[in-house]
Amino acid sequence: MALGELCGKVAVITGASSGIGAATAHAVVAEGMRVVLAARRVERLHAVAESLRAKGGEVHAVAIDVAAPGASAQLLDAAERAFGRFDMVFANAGYGMERAHHETAEVDLRQIFEVNFFASTDLITQAARRLIAANRPGHLLMCSSCLAKFTIPYYGAYAATKAAQAMTCRAMRFELEPHGIEVSSVHPVTTMTEFFEQSAARSGLDPCGTKTPDHAPKFFVQPPERVARAIVSCLKRPRSEVWTSLLVRLSAGIITAFPWVFDGACRREARRSRKLATRSRQGRNRPVGRDSSRA
Ligand SMILES: NC(=O)c1ccc[n+]([C@@H]2O[C@H](COP(=O)([O-])OP(=O)(O)OC[C@H]3O[C@@H](n4cnc5c(N)ncnc54)[C@H](OP(=O)(O)O)[C@@H]3O)[C@@H](O)[C@H]2O)c1
Repeated sequence: MALGELCGKVAVITGASSGIGAATAHAVVAEGMRVVLAARRVERLHAVAESLRAKGGEVHAVAIDVAAPGASAQLLDAAERAFGRFDMVFANAGYGMERAHHETAEVDLRQIFEVNFFASTDLITQAARRLIAANRPGHLLMCSSCLAKFTIPYYGAYAATKAAQAMTCRAMRFELEPHGIEVSSVHPVTTMTEFFEQSAARSGLDPCGTKTPDHAPKFFVQPPERVARAIVSCLKRPRSEVWTSLLVRLSAGIITAFPWVFDGACRREARRSRKLATRSRQGRNRPVGRDSSRA
């Protein structure tokens, strides 16, 4: 069941201090929704909140680590205190990690699952329970990825968290249908955000030497506003999955059915990643004059 008129409804968005989360906050405020924003970087979060207020948005910001114990309850309590309700929850906070699986420490593997999978699943589960108890409809979304459907070398752990999110959303969609609650997974392709810099930093790599939107074919690269528009469209006409590239969606279907068609590309990508990572670790890769802040 669609939320109906979005104006006046309340959206809770994690990972709202930058990228897709911030763009989605702007898009839903443009529809008249009130928003609760969450992230850890307080200054960045408040800057987003201020820019939304300047546009007339009603905003409440919550500085929170989504993976901290009790974070989901704290965030939903804050939304209910600020606005008396919530109607939409977008569990978007997440990060990437570019590392060979055999070189990934268990603690790093557990941490990426804590943030990307367990925290987002906990948030929409607790939101669902509250909506059911209040007998209210709602729309719950998780930011998964196109990499939920296939992976590339050195992104196996990240892709596993995204696949786990997508599977959870898919099951919850039908479990919550009788309660009038929509569940959708969002599957962005390469999006121009801080994701790649963050991913490189967490992987101990020079951001210039690893994957960036510059390394992806142009038609796979999109601004975060494109994802935000697709999310608003999904709130108006709910669907199971939000995609912003038909080509990648179709390719994902083909790769699922015939994985070997992607083997050659994966081998090339693995060779390129090894070369870039070696150069990056040796600190020899920063091209003169290239702006390293570009994501
Ligand atoms: N960019 C892409 O190409 C792409 C493609 C597919 C899917 N995605 C997914 O899109 C989502 C958003 O990423 P983005 O591209 O917008 O990158 P981004 O600009 O780096 O945004 C990530 C957001 O997550 C927040 N975050 C990370 N860890 C957190 C934690 N423990 N607690 C609270 N907040 C946390 C960050 O805020 P703080 O650091 O302030 O906490 C930030 O606001 C992620 O789930 C990512 O996996 C991205």
